Amino acid sequence: MEARVAPADVELDEATLIAGVLEGLEPLPGSEEAYVGVPDEVIRATGFEAKAGQTLTVSHSEAAALLLVGLGPEVSYGALKSAAGNAIRQVKTERAVTLLARADIEAATRAVAEGSLLGAYEFRAYKTEGESLAVRTIEIVDGDEGELRTATAMVAATILARDWVNTPAKDKSPEALAALVSEAVGDAPLEFEEWDRAKIEEEELGALLGVAAGSDRDPRVVFLRYRPDGAGGHLALVGKGITFDSGGLSLKTAAFMEEMKDDMSGAAAVLAATIGIAELGLPLNVTAIAPLTDNAVGGDATRPGDVLRPVDGPTIEVLNTDAEGRLILADGLGLAKRYEPDLTVDVATLTGAAVVALGKEVAAVFGSDSEVPRRVLDAASRAGEEFWELPMFKGYRKSIDSNIADIKNISGTRFGGAIVAAVFLSEYSGDGPWAHLDIAGPARRAETSGEFVKGASGVAVRTLIEIARGMAEAG
Ligand code: BES
Ligand code: MN
Ligand code: ZN
Repeated sequence: MEARVAPADVELDEATLIAGVLEGLEPLPGSEEAYVGVPDEVIRATGFEAKAGQTLTVSHSEAAALLLVGLGPEVSYGALKSAAGNAIRQVKTERAVTLLARADIEAATRAVAEGSLLGAYEFRAYKTEGESLAVRTIEIVDGDEGELRTATAMVAATILARDWVNTPAKDKSPEALAALVSEAVGDAPLEFEEWDRAKIEEEELGALLGVAAGSDRDPRVVFLRYRPDGAGGHLALVGKGITFDSGGLSLKTAAFMEEMKDDMSGAAAVLAATIGIAELGLPLNVTAIAPLTDNAVGGDATRPGDVLRPVDGPTIEVLNTDAEGRLILADGLGLAKRYEPDLTVDVATLTGAAVVALGKEVAAVFGSDSEVPRRVLDAASRAGEEFWELPMFKGYRKSIDSNIADIKNISGTRFGGAIVAAVFLSEYSGDGPWAHLDIAGPARRAETSGEFVKGASGVAVRTLIEIARGMAEAG
């Protein structure tokens, strides 16, 4: 689907007009004219109360329809974005025209464009039945062109990540996923590089090789390097790219394995965000590094008690092969350090403990100091994504002392598991500013609602792009 800005006097032929309504059947400012001829009693009789998530199609005529969408009690960036997403899925015509961006809040056009374009997302590559949504274009009345450009880039990157994550593991071996990324780069102004098994062995990425040992599908490391003229800083991004997490010999149970094709959501986020940053032309050097491998069970799989040697930093005794994300990130962070970036951000579906702590809709952020999480949270709030800080409590370091190696990959308890994982990673991130984002919960949505469609969410892509925007502006 496509979005464009439309003038106030846009023709409504064969279009669905989307108008926002606040609770109490108060029209959203700028939408009053849409109500002419629709008495409140008629609307009320349908049960429509303008609660967030509610929609009401007032006419089913092919020629033109009026679609009312509830915003809940007050207008906010989030309410507008959700309403736009909920409305777009109810449109039965190819053309939609929306009045929502007339709302008197900051970045209204961006909220409406992101909500509409992401809410209309569909992943139909494996469907042979059913029909896709009819809507092809959304025209945003009195929208802002600049905001629409930003939103379009944010959405395109988010959709890339959603597509990769939704793809079944069978069709995204590390090799195949690297090919999908290379294809997505197309002629965007950035460099793609791929390390195969021989190169990974030569470079001695022992932790990645240890996780890959149980799989017949070879690992990869994908690099994206964006080096624009006049760059004012360097952002390094590292993403967890487990193309399927069976748990390895510490095998998961069936229910916990169901969603483990999602375990490359961190890699998807950093790679898609870097493509988005390049497409926006932000004046900032960005290096994205994504170690990609299955975590499978095979005759030569890493066994509990084995010791791995990452490219840099402490040797690791693997006591649970299901704590594999931190292993490949140890190598990823080791490579990132070489670039001496101004900020390193890693993104990973790392721990079930983060899901227990914050639930399925909020991501965790950890920082190497107190300043870094502030920057991430500010960027997330500009991006309209939900993050919350958890402490990088170094007191838990002793719980991962190993008997025979420098460190072990699990502590003796499941308590504080997200923090223990972050403390483990801090052994590999170097001395510079670093943030760790644990997106295990929000990487996937269980329900279609607002900007989200059941399945991959593309979380963190927009926050990463906002972090880059912040760094580019600061110079
Ligand atoms: N990929 C999982 C984490 C995960 C859990 C992501 C649920 C999404 C939803 C990770 O590799 C894992 O298995 N972590 C273990 C670590 C434990 C063995 C210390 C976990 O959280 O149970
Ligand atoms: Mn695991
Ligand atoms: Zn995992």
